[in-house]
Amino acid sequence: MIARPPSGAAGGGPAPMSECVYLNGEYLPLSEARVPVLDRGFMFGDGVYEVIPAYARRPFRLQHHLQRLDASLHAIRLDNPLSFADWDEIIGRVIAEHPASDQSIYVQVTRGPARRDHGFPADPQPTVLVMSSALSDVPEAVAREGVAAVTLPDIRWGRCDIKAITLLPNILLRQQALDAGAAEAILLREGRVTEGAASNVFVVIGGVLITPPKSRHLLPGITRDLVVQLAQAHQVSFREGEISEAELRGADEVWLTSSTKEILPVTRLDGLPVGDGTPGPLWETLLALYQAYKRGLRRGSPG
Ligand code: PDD
Repeated sequence: MIARPPSGAAGGGPAPMSECVYLNGEYLPLSEARVPVLDRGFMFGDGVYEVIPAYARRPFRLQHHLQRLDASLHAIRLDNPLSFADWDEIIGRVIAEHPASDQSIYVQVTRGPARRDHGFPADPQPTVLVMSSALSDVPEAVAREGVAAVTLPDIRWGRCDIKAITLLPNILLRQQALDAGAAEAILLREGRVTEGAASNVFVVIGGVLITPPKSRHLLPGITRDLVVQLAQAHQVSFREGEISEAELRGADEVWLTSSTKEILPVTRLDGLPVGDGTPGPLWETLLALYQAYKRGLRRGSPG
């Protein structure tokens, strides 16, 4: 089974307002959590975030997520408001308060409230939010049949390596994919694949697994890194490399990876079958390794 948020591809519904969130030092029900309208997250999208899955209440690759959060904060020139130990404790408490065993934890840090001015406030008071929602499994059949994707031009900015809350291009691209009956948009910049609207992309060509190298044009996905690690540890032929549009269209397999999608096979691209139109053998192999890794985490191995 592949995990995804309960809202699925059709978009998010209303959140249960009784869930406990952490906001600026307090634990309170979601319905009581408030941020000022002058918050720079609201005014400018001036902030960064993380989405961290938890299985059996154990956060998945927490240190990797905290390191990426730290890197995003550094890139937007905002000091990390908390130590890793504090993050660990807060995230642990939010997970403990939630009724679901498998969860998706959302962490957001903004530059906080200040009079609206593009320049940074002299003494920023960051807004820190941690909340959680249930993470449910994708039915086996969905994972087995794969999903449809469409290609779209990558209209985003030059710092896609920062996990910024400023997601308007990603949202428009994802919605364009949904409107076309697809689950995701695969983005092309100057004729090369960067990533999905909210996922990283892998292809298999002639038995070799390929994903674009890290750069300012894509997010360094935590799931991507684990897939690479598992492939290398199990002698799967792998390389980081640019993927041209022609290579994407001719690939034997195309996958999407993210914390909430895990590893999802794309079986239709722009209305045409990928390979033979069914999820490929290397996807089966990597998914099995990924699921084994998750089972280890559930049993208490370090995530
Ligand atoms: N998004 N690329 C983009 C643009 C993303 O938004 C995401 C994840 C990824 C995959 O990263 P990771 O494996 O660390 O989840 C790649 C999250 C899930 C979101 O915005 O909800």
